[in-house]
Amino acid sequence: MKDVIIMNKKGTSLCFFSAKGGTGKTTNLLNLAGIISQLEKRVLVIDFDLYTGSVAKYLNKTFDRSIIDLNDDLENNRYNKITDYVTKYNENIDILCAPIDPRQANRFNVRYVKDVINMSCLEYDVVLIDTNNSLDAINLSILENVEKILFITTNDIIDLSNIKSLITIFNKIGLVNYKVLLNNSRDPFKSLLDIFEIKKILGCNVDYELSSEMFLKNVDKYVMEGKIISLDKSFSSVMAKDYLTFVSLATDILEEGKDE
Ligand SMILES: Nc1ncnc2c1ncn2[C@@H]1O[C@H](COP(=O)(O)OP(=O)(O)OP(=O)(O)O)[C@@H](O)[C@H]1O
Ligand SMILES: [Mg+2]
Repeated sequence: MKDVIIMNKKGTSLCFFSAKGGTGKTTNLLNLAGIISQLEKRVLVIDFDLYTGSVAKYLNKTFDRSIIDLNDDLENNRYNKITDYVTKYNENIDILCAPIDPRQANRFNVRYVKDVINMSCLEYDVVLIDTNNSLDAINLSILENVEKILFITTNDIIDLSNIKSLITIFNKIGLVNYKVLLNNSRDPFKSLLDIFEIKKILGCNVDYELSSEMFLKNVDKYVMEGKIISLDKSFSSVMAKDYLTFVSLATDILEEGKDE
């Protein structure tokens, strides 16, 4: 009889990171989750922005269990499976929420970061991790243990120079599994710098770019309705360029995940 090798399904992980707050991490991480879900892949969004987590708020979801419950069960040997702690958004998107009460955030033990990422990758095709912009122990552990990092920067000159400092540090310590997304949709009226000047400031390539056309005056309407912008029926036609950017980001992640 032939040997049967049972392989565990192994998904891939990507974290969004920026040098400053408000660059569009959460909004566009959710847009990416939307596109991946349309490709019929299962996505887990982990809200590791533990003190000011906003994924559940953006999606207008209430929830019973958070990442802190997961931490506590790991600590007390009560953990069974990752899906016991997630909240369903739609057929393909689940979320692992940050605690409602920010005072609980510092209970999360940094030694579980790696386990949470690995356990999630066993269950989902893609694990997307939202962060805040500090270089604290939790974020450093995420950055070390995640398969890919996406630096997200606006076209703001200070933001660009701060992200350049981060990239320089990452290159020095050999953490080169990152790509850069330039988000022009946060400050659509800034047009002093063109893409060549931006690349010069960054000292590296810009892998993905969201256009100023993706600036939405009514962005809060989506939040109030708990809707993901990329899942809007008109997104692929009205914002065709940005839709294609998300599709190429999604396919790159899925392809690169296969190579690991
Ligand atoms: N395309 C857009 N058009 C208009 N407003 C946007 C767009 N994308 C994001 N915003 C707004 O910019 C603000 C910051 O966005 P978001 O919360 O996604 O950034 P963030 O990097 O996750 O912030 P933080 O670092 O605080 O977690 C929010 O008020 C959001 O609604
Ligand atoms: Mg955020």
